[in-house]
Formats: sequence, structure tokens, C-alpha cells
Amino acid sequence: MIDLTGKVALVTGGSRGLGRAIALKLAEAGADIVLNFVASRTAADQTAEHIARLGRRVAEVQADVSEPDDIAAMLDWISETFGRLDILVSNAAVGNFGSLIETRPEEFDLTMNTNVRGLLMLVQNALPLLAGSTSNSKVIALSSTGANLALPHCGLVGASKAALESAVRHLALELGDRGINFNAVQAGWVDTDTTRTAPEFESLLSAQSFRQMTGDRVLTADDIANAVLFLASPLSDLIQGQTLVVDGGAAVRV
Ligand SMILES: NC(=O)c1ccc[n+]([C@@H]2O[C@H](COP(=O)([O-])OP(=O)(O)OC[C@H]3O[C@@H](n4cnc5c(N)ncnc54)[C@H](OP(=O)(O)O)[C@@H]3O)[C@@H](O)[C@H]2O)c1
Repeated sequence: MIDLTGKVALVTGGSRGLGRAIALKLAEAGADIVLNFVASRTAADQTAEHIARLGRRVAEVQADVSEPDDIAAMLDWISETFGRLDILVSNAAVGNFGSLIETRPEEFDLTMNTNVRGLLMLVQNALPLLAGSTSNSKVIALSSTGANLALPHCGLVGASKAALESAVRHLALELGDRGINFNAVQAGWVDTDTTRTAPEFESLLSAQSFRQMTGDRVLTADDIANAVLFLASPLSDLIQGQTLVVDGGAAVRV
């Protein structure tokens, strides 16, 4: 039984999709939650209400993780309001599915600034809180299988996730001795608002199902949240700089 009672967790992009499932999972385990969103206030309100019904403290913070000033303001607010941060889940990202060769500079910048620089700015600003925790604090970044594989329409987001996983390893190298675990969860395809916009999403999903080695189980947001919960818990204190793949084995099957 994982007990996160007394811990404070920030989940970026916690209003919808995988972030919502992760926020609920951490709250069910006892953590108080800071729920970040950028645009969907109604979805954030609904997720926050669900967390409050679990008896946890919950706060919503609107901030764009591609904007360093927004991140700095969010972490200042967390410091003043909660005075601690034990778990940081860097989940918010943009998909930007399409042809890599046709990528415009502004699309490249937005994807990298949201998906990669966002993590770096979060860690820079959260460091005093993360390093001040009495037990190991945890940073978990959400990656995708495009980091390793060549997937149709995923060149830009895949490159951003490869950079993200490398950043996770190097943050572990630079800061791991300060009592912070840095790890990534590499999720397979799950049906969410973003993935539904991917061209040929249904065929990508069925190709994954075909290669999964886990019977008829469909990969869900809850499966991803379970992996994040483990990496947010003391059970993973000796897991450092890793990427945990959660895709039913699809990525290792030819
Ligand atoms: N779903 C999958 O199959 C899959 C697979 C592999 C990896 N992932 C990764 O999992 C994470 C979540 O994906 P998802 O599919 O759950 O997405 P989603 O359902 O579309 O939700 C995206 C979330 O990110 C937030 N967000 C987007 N841009 C933001 C920004 N600039 N600043 C702050 N928040 C922002 C959104 O906030 P608003 O609600 O306010 O718009 C929303 O909460 C991403 O890192 C994604 O790459 C997903």
C-alpha cells in the first residue's frame, strides 16, 4: 500500500487526459494536489472537485508551461501557499502531429519550449522546495514511444520526448545526490483529447494492440497513472534517471 499522506504534488496539465488520471491517483494515495492547467478551467474545476471529495487539499493554478515567467509565478505561489513540494509530475505537452520535414520554426519552438524547456524551468524553480523535502522528492516526466521508435506523424513530438528523456538522465546526474529522483514514464497510445487529433490514430492504436503481449487488455490512463504512482513513492527511491515504458510490451515486439 503506497501512502503519500502529507506530501504535496504538482501535476502539470492535470485538468484532462493522463494528467487528470495521475492527479486522482496521487490524491487517492493521500497526496495534496496542485493542479495546473492552461485553458480548460471547467475541466480543471471538475478534476479539482473530484480530488476534494477524496478529502485532499487541492488548488488549481493556471500557467502556461512554455512560459518561464508563468512557471516562476506558479512555483512562488506553491512555496507561499503550501511551503513544500514533494512530487513534481511534468505532464503538460503539445502533440503537434505531422510531417517532420514540413515543420515550421514556430511549431518547432512551441513543441520544444513546452515539452522540454518546460521540465527544465519547472525543476529550476522548484529546486529549493524539492531539495528541502525530508524524504526523497520525486520528479516524473511523461514521455512517449516516439522517443525511440519511428512513428507516423510523430517526428517532432518524438524528438522532443527523446530530448526530454535525456534531460531527465542529466538532471539525475546533476541533482540526484540532493535527494531527488528523476525518472520518466514512456506511455504507449491512450485515447485522449490530444491523441484523437493524430492522423490515423485508430490504426496506430490497433497496431499497438496487435503488438501488445498482455492479452486483450486495452492500455488506459489508469495504467500510466499506476506507473507514476510507483515512481512518486518511496518504493522507487533507488530508481534514478530511468525511463519506464508502459505499453503492454508493444515497443519490444517485432
Ligand atoms: N495519450 C497518450 O497516448 C500519450 C502517449 C504518450 C505520452 N503522452 C504524454 O502524456 C502527457 C499528457 O498527454 P494527454 O494525451 O493526456 O493530453 P491531453 O488529454 O490532451 O491533456 C493535455 C493537458 O496538458 C495541458 N496543457 C497543454 N499545454 C499546456 C501548457 N502550455 N501549459 C500548461 N498545461 C498545458 C492541458 O491543459 P488544458 O486542459 O488547460 O488545455 C491538459 O491538461 C503528454 O506529455 C503526452 O505527450 C500521452
